[in-house]
Amino acid sequence: MVVLKDETASLRSSDDIVKVRRIVREWAVSLGFSLVDQTKVVTAASELARNVIDYGGGGDFRIEALNNDSRRGLRLTFSDEGPGIVDLEQAMKDGFTTGGGLGLGLGGAKRLVNEFLIDSKPGRGTTVVIVRWKNL
Ligand SMILES: Nc1ncnc2c1ncn2[C@@H]1O[C@H](COP(=O)(O)OP(=O)(O)O)[C@@H](O)[C@H]1O
Ligand SMILES: [Mg+2]
Repeated sequence: MVVLKDETASLRSSDDIVKVRRIVREWAVSLGFSLVDQTKVVTAASELARNVIDYGGGGDFRIEALNNDSRRGLRLTFSDEGPGIVDLEQAMKDGFTTGGGLGLGLGGAKRLVNEFLIDSKPGRGTTVVIVRWKNL
């Protein structure tokens, strides 16, 4: 697996979510994602960026274009050094929120991508990595 190119951005405000949405859309278009797949990965990115800002106290975003012999995809990483998540299983459940949201961000993002990894250490922060492959 080869990383063709990458870009990073910091996540501090709602403006940064708009920026992340734009970057992800542009990269998905350039890889030839269908309109539906573009929207899926943009929506997942939006939810995860929102969580970094709302719960993680801000953090970082990275996008990488991947080439895996037969297919291309996007890998997105969202990381923060916030309070972390004590019970990951609970946090992943639809409807669970500590912030008065809908509690659909993590579960929804997971359903919109092909690979979803979440790593969180209470007191040390949270990292979520998602991959969406281009459908052939
Ligand atoms: N980056 C994060 N840092 C700390 N807690 C988080 C983070 N992301 C999600 N959480 C926790 O997981 C819960 C569920 O997140 P999510 O599914 O996006 O729903 P919502 O944002 O509507 O609360 C949040 O309410 C929060 O408690
Ligand atoms: Mg959320």
